[in-house]
Amino acid sequence: MRAYCLATIFINLLLVSWLPQPRADETSRRHALRYLTPAASADRDAFVGDTSASRRSGDADVRHVNVLFTFTNVQQNAMLGPGLMRTLTSMLRNASVNISCHFLGDAYSVIVARDVFHDAVKATNSTGHEVRLYRTETLLEPYADYLGKVRSMFSASRGKFNRDFFFITLVVHRLLPHLRRVIKLDSDLYVAADVARLQALFADFEPEAVMGLSVEQQPVYYCAFRNYRAHAQDERAGVPASIGGHQGYNTGVILLDLERMRTSATYANATQLATLAATQRRFLFFDNHLGDQDIYSMIGMETQQLFYPLPCQWNRQLCTRYRTAKKFNRNLFMEYYACAEPVMIYHGNCGARLPRKAYTYHMPHPLTS
Ligand SMILES: *[C@@H]1O[C@H](CO)[C@@H](O)[C@H](O)[C@H]1NC(C)=O
Ligand SMILES: *[C@@H]1O[C@H](CO)[C@@H](O)[C@H](O)[C@H]1NC(C)=O
Ligand SMILES: *[C@@H]1O[C@H](CO)[C@@H](O)[C@H](O)[C@H]1NC(C)=O
Ligand SMILES: *[C@@H]1O[C@H](CO)[C@@H](O)[C@H](O)[C@H]1NC(C)=O
Repeated sequence: MRAYCLATIFINLLLVSWLPQPRADETSRRHALRYLTPAASADRDAFVGDTSASRRSGDADVRHVNVLFTFTNVQQNAMLGPGLMRTLTSMLRNASVNISCHFLGDAYSVIVARDVFHDAVKATNSTGHEVRLYRTETLLEPYADYLGKVRSMFSASRGKFNRDFFFITLVVHRLLPHLRRVIKLDSDLYVAADVARLQALFADFEPEAVMGLSVEQQPVYYCAFRNYRAHAQDERAGVPASIGGHQGYNTGVILLDLERMRTSATYANATQLATLAATQRRFLFFDNHLGDQDIYSMIGMETQQLFYPLPCQWNRQLCTRYRTAKKFNRNLFMEYYACAEPVMIYHGNCGARLPRKAYTYHMPHPLTS
């Protein structure tokens, strides 16, 4: 068993360098061209900048859904725009509700995101949705010190996830004080169901839960907790949920109950620097590369009540890198990968190909607007 994990340290690095990049097909390449520069000039009115006194969106009910994307460094990663277009069109096509899309990122990237949003609305002929932009340059200032320290504690490699940005959900309840709940989505998804059904799952949270997460569907945490399993009596860390273990979480889809994050003493304690450091030492958890999902996976090892177990069908991860590298035991791999429920959201993580229907949306011509 140990041998699989040694081999997968390398795979982990590969995974990190691949992760947020949707595969480049012809459609994507045309979109990449379109979304490299903002169509509209950077009008400041588009920003919600100061959120303190913003109006409250009607997010308590199922008829209005708030969705959050973190969207940044689009200039360095031309495939982000096409990935977002695919995610948004699929989501809007099946939505029975009005959606507010909140984009959090550098000023340049969120303006590109807004262009993508408007194109997706046009492509799906939908109405009633709105877009809100937040600039991280200013919003993150008060949390820079905290996030910088978290990053230095939880970044074993020099991959993409070394940036503070990948830990942003730890403070998102402070960044969006005007929202009560939000669904955070990655930009490499294909949404095959009505997002209102996802929103409805907030009602299933146990009283102490602050967020909903699906399990990580590759043996990432089997490997990350191998030292802890070897040294401690706890045989459950990183082991498949199907045999009673703590499999770890994936953050491609997160239901965030921001209000509970703001008021939960358990969450506040679990995420303060001193507790994170102590927990990390206790679990010998130093092999980490995946940003916030490493932290929630670690916290979930002992404070599971903070997390609502989102059914795997809402974040069906398609990456099979641990298996295709041919080093990981296939049967063990399948214990992590299996998800028998009908898929609601496909997640093309590590560049995995999405279902064919994900590539069939109508596209605007790349050089017109
Ligand atoms: C778009 O929606 C409008 C109004 O709902 C409708 O009249 C029109 O036929 C739709 N167009 C397409 C291409 O679906
Ligand atoms: C969506 O918003 C429009 C107004 O923009 C409103 O007329 C409509 O009833 C809303 N739909 C739902 C499902 O709430
Ligand atoms: C989503 O929308 C597509 C296209 O309109 C439709 O074929 C499909 O049945 C919808 N799926 C669900 C789960 O509503
Ligand atoms: C904070 O969390 C740690 C780790 O779970 C736990 O040992 C400690 O008792 C908690 N402290 C408080 C005040 O809840």
